[in-house]
Amino acid sequence: MGEHGTTAAWEVDAGEFPADGDFAERARFLLRYATLAPSSHNSQPWAFEIGDGAVRLFADESRRLSVADPDGRELHLSLGCALENLVVAARYFGYDPAVDYGDGADDPVATVTLGREGPGPTDAATPPDAATPDPAVGDAALFDAIRRRRTNHELFDEGRPVPAAVLDRFRGYAAESDGDVTLTLVEDADRRRELAALQAEADRRQFEDPDYREELGYWVGSGALGANWLVARVGQLAVEHLDLGDREGAKNSKLLRSAPAVAVLSTATDDRESRVEAGRAFERLALAATNEGLAVHPMSQTLERPAYRAKLAELLGSSDASPQHLFRLGYGEPESGRTPRRPVDDVLR
Ligand SMILES: Cc1cc2nc3c(=O)[nH]c(=O)nc-3n(C[C@H](O)[C@H](O)[C@H](O)COP(=O)(O)O)c2cc1C
Repeated sequence: MGEHGTTAAWEVDAGEFPADGDFAERARFLLRYATLAPSSHNSQPWAFEIGDGAVRLFADESRRLSVADPDGRELHLSLGCALENLVVAARYFGYDPAVDYGDGADDPVATVTLGREGPGPTDAATPPDAATPDPAVGDAALFDAIRRRRTNHELFDEGRPVPAAVLDRFRGYAAESDGDVTLTLVEDADRRRELAALQAEADRRQFEDPDYREELGYWVGSGALGANWLVARVGQLAVEHLDLGDREGAKNSKLLRSAPAVAVLSTATDDRESRVEAGRAFERLALAATNEGLAVHPMSQTLERPAYRAKLAELLGSSDASPQHLFRLGYGEPESGRTPRRPVDDVLR
């Protein structure tokens, strides 16, 4: 098994929840769902500690993308995704999880107190609870989507808009999230073209940087992004030795233009907790999107350089909020294959 784990992690079966096991065994089981979360370059930058009826979440700094993500924005978004999966899985198995955020560099990024234990797994066949009458976001529906969610890198069908009712539901899901996270949905063709032009420029800039290419080459070449060994080696050579900026930029801008809607999550403050909360909101939306039959694809290059990030805020008309995460939404051929995940043993402190 490589340092990024295997695709066997996706085979987790809810029927094997160790209901009669001790707290640590049950918490470990929940972490199998947390670790299926998306993360930038599939870096899986999380570490967990189990104890006292709680699970503590830390950053694994050795997995930070020091070139693409020097200030840890993507790292904390990724931690938020794992945290949201943990909360969704805990609810599904009858817990009442409460999340506290830490501030200090040595504090846990978040502590999840699992709380009382309920009657056991939510029955996936029962209608969602009254508080969330929408079938895409009931506890059981979100839980069920954890194993089906994946990033879709295909062209989307530009001629098939996301129905207004679905986008309205998306705004509703985002509004339900804690903290100061806001969702902007860009559907207008001219504005999407402007976003695509910004993406192409940011891509070109990133790929001009040999350190950026080398870092990406490491993650591609070591199989984190799920290609088989041969394809992965070829990918690494290509990324490290050619200036692919123009090609990548053209490809990514085409992908962006093919999406009938582009979503951006922003926060009023730009600190660790806000970024984790933005990550949680993203994962919740990605799970809901999975249940709505929508494909999701984050695209980060515009956010990775301060000048482009500022231009993005301007373009969105929200210069007083910090854009944290951008993703395409639409309909496309399903992504084939899965990315690997590290087993829980490897992410426990
Ligand atoms: C914060 C964050 C940023 C990401 N940025 C990109 C990106 O710029 N381009 C891309 O193709 N995928 C991006 N992704 C998707 C990851 O590459 C993907 O989640 C990871 O490879 C695992 O694959 P999966 O989502 O299919 O499970 C991002 C994901 C996260 C959480």
